[in-house]
Amino acid sequence: MRIVVLTGAGISAESGLTTFRDSGGLWEGHDPMQVATPEAYADDPGLVQRFYDARRAALTQVEPNAAHHALVRLEAALGDDLLVVTQNVDDLHERAGSRRVHHIHGRLRSAWCTRCDERHDWHGPLADGPACPACGGSELRPDIVWFGEIPYGMDLVEEALEECDLFVSIGTSGVVYPAAAFVHWARGATLELNLEPSAGAGDFAESRRGPATRLVPDWVNELLA
Ligand code: APR
Repeated sequence: MRIVVLTGAGISAESGLTTFRDSGGLWEGHDPMQVATPEAYADDPGLVQRFYDARRAALTQVEPNAAHHALVRLEAALGDDLLVVTQNVDDLHERAGSRRVHHIHGRLRSAWCTRCDERHDWHGPLADGPACPACGGSELRPDIVWFGEIPYGMDLVEEALEECDLFVSIGTSGVVYPAAAFVHWARGATLELNLEPSAGAGDFAESRRGPATRLVPDWVNELLA
């Protein structure tokens, strides 16, 4: 069985990473148009860099949870028949042990040099304008896909959805495109695992409610039984 799993901020919530649109979410404390657009970066790069520096630093305080680990067990059983497509920029899937993870919105622990176009694994701050390890320039920006920019690797995702037997969406509100349209692109069966109904809940053949750390291990156990 070929499965595509889409994950959103809800899968990392129980690891201690704030989601975006829930109460107390990131977008309550920050205007996304001020910190997550190329225009905002052009206007005030320091503000944008400090926003992502704080999120990158927060990654040292959190660990993958039972939902991330359950997907690793599923990958061990399915091998290349499982693809995890994530909107998340954290590295908790990889730290749990997942190999086939595609980040459509980029990664916090990556810096992109807009002078030489190289990308570098990056754990520290960027606000102090460090030099690019490749070209020496000081034009490193967060390797994050901002509003108005094109998500990474959409061809790969579209192909996987067209060939999948099952599409599962975990911990996403279903309001941000193109991810919110994946349920329509998926050829196979569709399942939503979410704390609350997402905006697209009605488009899924089945929807289950509850925390990811319960729903995902239960679903994986069911599949592997
Ligand atoms: N278990 C399962 N689902 C959860 C949990 C949990 N413990 N906690 C929250 N959720 C669900 C919420 O009900 C909500 O539907 O996760 C979803 C989180 O929604 P958002 O905060 O909107 O996050 P997400 O859908 O990932 O955002 C999509 O928007 O801001 C941009 O680029 C950013 O990738 C992000 C995109």
